[in-house]
Amino acid sequence: MAFKKVAVAGATGNLGPSIVNELVNQGFEVTVLSSSGKTSGLPSAIKVVKVDYSSQDSVISALRGQEAFVSAIPKHEEQPALIDAAIAAGVQRFIPSEFGSNIVGNEKVRALPVFGGKVKTQDYLRAKQDQISYTLITNGLFLDWAINLGWVVNLKGKTEINDNGDGVHSFTLLSDIGKAVAGVLNNPEETKNRGVYVQTVALSQNQALKIAQKVKPEFKAETESVDLGEVEKNAYAELSKQNGDIGSAMLNFIKISIFREGYGNLWNDKNDNELLGVKGLSESELEDLIAKSF
Ligand SMILES: NC(=O)c1ccc[n+]([C@@H]2O[C@H](COP(=O)([O-])OP(=O)(O)OC[C@H]3O[C@@H](n4cnc5c(N)ncnc54)[C@H](OP(=O)(O)O)[C@@H]3O)[C@@H](O)[C@H]2O)c1
Repeated sequence: MAFKKVAVAGATGNLGPSIVNELVNQGFEVTVLSSSGKTSGLPSAIKVVKVDYSSQDSVISALRGQEAFVSAIPKHEEQPALIDAAIAAGVQRFIPSEFGSNIVGNEKVRALPVFGGKVKTQDYLRAKQDQISYTLITNGLFLDWAINLGWVVNLKGKTEINDNGDGVHSFTLLSDIGKAVAGVLNNPEETKNRGVYVQTVALSQNQALKIAQKVKPEFKAETESVDLGEVEKNAYAELSKQNGDIGSAMLNFIKISIFREGYGNLWNDKNDNELLGVKGLSESELEDLIAKSF
């Protein structure tokens, strides 16, 4: 039977509102756990509980009575404590803050230093699966969020073309990630203790540039070639320096997981879209999305 009572942590960031809004639209009973108590971007039909994440009692008490717990917090290494709190409160399903690259199915992604906290969380969930079930959602880069930042295609400046730009990768709209979360909660048995894959589109950077030129003929694409092999070498070099730029190295590891060949970043032929109720975009809908993003 579907889980109905759902707690969400990290609900006020880049991704959280899309998850909460979809859950509310589909009739789930949503309780948001928040460290700040902020509610911007969230619908009014939710309960907000202010929690102190440094206190297990505070988290356990906020989770009592909940059937499922979705984490969208950015501090992945803090999640084992949330899993323990969920177990103590009697929660049945934990969806950790994954929502990105293919850590589940690709050893090279799993080995990238930026994903240490996510890997640790996945291992912890596997070790505790007799006490709480889990589902790991892999969606690739957030499509709409990334276009706004100039990743994939930069509509306001120079596009960094990773390797030759022909690699096709899976990307997902924030709203479709919300649908995927609801889809997991609607299908507890089919999604129990495994990874699920969703995508809105499979797209290369060169295809995205072509669409941008089609929908806005006056758009003059500026591009710069980036060799991801070099980027990877430099990111590791940065990590080994005493005062290296760790932030930029971590960002580059994320780019590698999304765009580099061999990093398992395409699940066009085999994904869980149908089970989870994610339809994806037709060619003309993708053109509309890019046209609206200028
Ligand atoms: N695939 C992609 O393209 C992509 C892009 C970005 C992020 N992601 C992934 O998506 C997930 C969510 O990321 P996001 O960018 O939405 O997160 P975010 O905006 O950085 O933060 C989400 C919320 O988490 C809460 N929070 C902040 N610090 C916290 C802490 N130390 N402990 C507990 N809660 C904290 C805050 O909410 P309150 O104030 O309400 O507590 C914050 O609004 C992450 O797993 C991230 O890796 C993927």
